[in-house]
Amino acid sequence: MIELTNISKTFNAGTPQEVRALININLNISNEEFIVIVGANGSGKSSLLNAIAGTIIPDSGKINIEGNEVTDWKDFRRSKWIARIFQDPFKGTASELSIIDNFRLAAIRTKRKSLSIGINSKFKEMVRERIALLGLGLEDKLEQSIGTLSGGQRQALTLIMAVMDDAKILLLDEPSAALDPKTSEIIMQKADQIIKEFKLTSILITHNLKDVASYGSRVILMKEGTIASDIKGEERSKMTIKDFQEWFL
Ligand SMILES: Nc1ncnc2c1ncn2[C@@H]1O[C@H](COP(=O)(O)OP(=O)(O)OP(=O)(O)O)[C@@H](O)[C@H]1O
Ligand SMILES: [Mg+2]
Repeated sequence: MIELTNISKTFNAGTPQEVRALININLNISNEEFIVIVGANGSGKSSLLNAIAGTIIPDSGKINIEGNEVTDWKDFRRSKWIARIFQDPFKGTASELSIIDNFRLAAIRTKRKSLSIGINSKFKEMVRERIALLGLGLEDKLEQSIGTLSGGQRQALTLIMAVMDDAKILLLDEPSAALDPKTSEIIMQKADQIIKEFKLTSILITHNLKDVASYGSRVILMKEGTIASDIKGEERSKMTIKDFQEWFL
């Protein structure tokens, strides 16, 4: 459960560059809900995700995650619940390290003490099993450096890393925007599969109307720092790509 109450964030307040990125946002997200956020450039979509992740702290309002009031918590304190995937496939991983070392690093970062991480065959086997879920053959390339993989392969691995340490919430900020159409489709399908399989609460930002129509259980349209529309339930499930196209105009 994620609850945002009256969240506002203004950048560069009191200067000519002042931007009201989030204005009095109220949003309740249930467990296992999959929200798709759409809206024009600069409408506040990434700011909303950043506020949930703790990479920006709101000026006012309250954020509650899993029953904890986390409004002033820095991102690392929330990272036990939250995994993120960004537009840039190079952002989530370290190029010079092997696949397996990237997974070790991710495990250390989220500080799962119960997990034995070292040069441990059990850890490696677990990583191999998880990566095999992708069906991309990457489980046989554990010692290969991440830098030699394509953007799509990296995004797929970042997805798996996200669920390695029992994150409950997955935030996806245009995860397939930098990928070719076919790879983009594969990554979105994998993401959807992982979200369902691991029962994640998820928020996807996308500009791709086909993805808006295909994924998630709720669609939110942002406009100038506010939630302009919020469609869920039966109303959402009846909507087609054409409806979404008309809705945006
Ligand atoms: N760290 C920051 N410092 C100053 N201004 C910022 C910062 N982050 C965001 N903004 C501004 O806040 C507004 C909302 O930005 P945000 O990144 O949330 O938009 P967005 O909806 O994600 O857009 P896009 O579709 O282009 O990714 C924009 O005007 C942006 O320039
Ligand atoms: Mg953005």
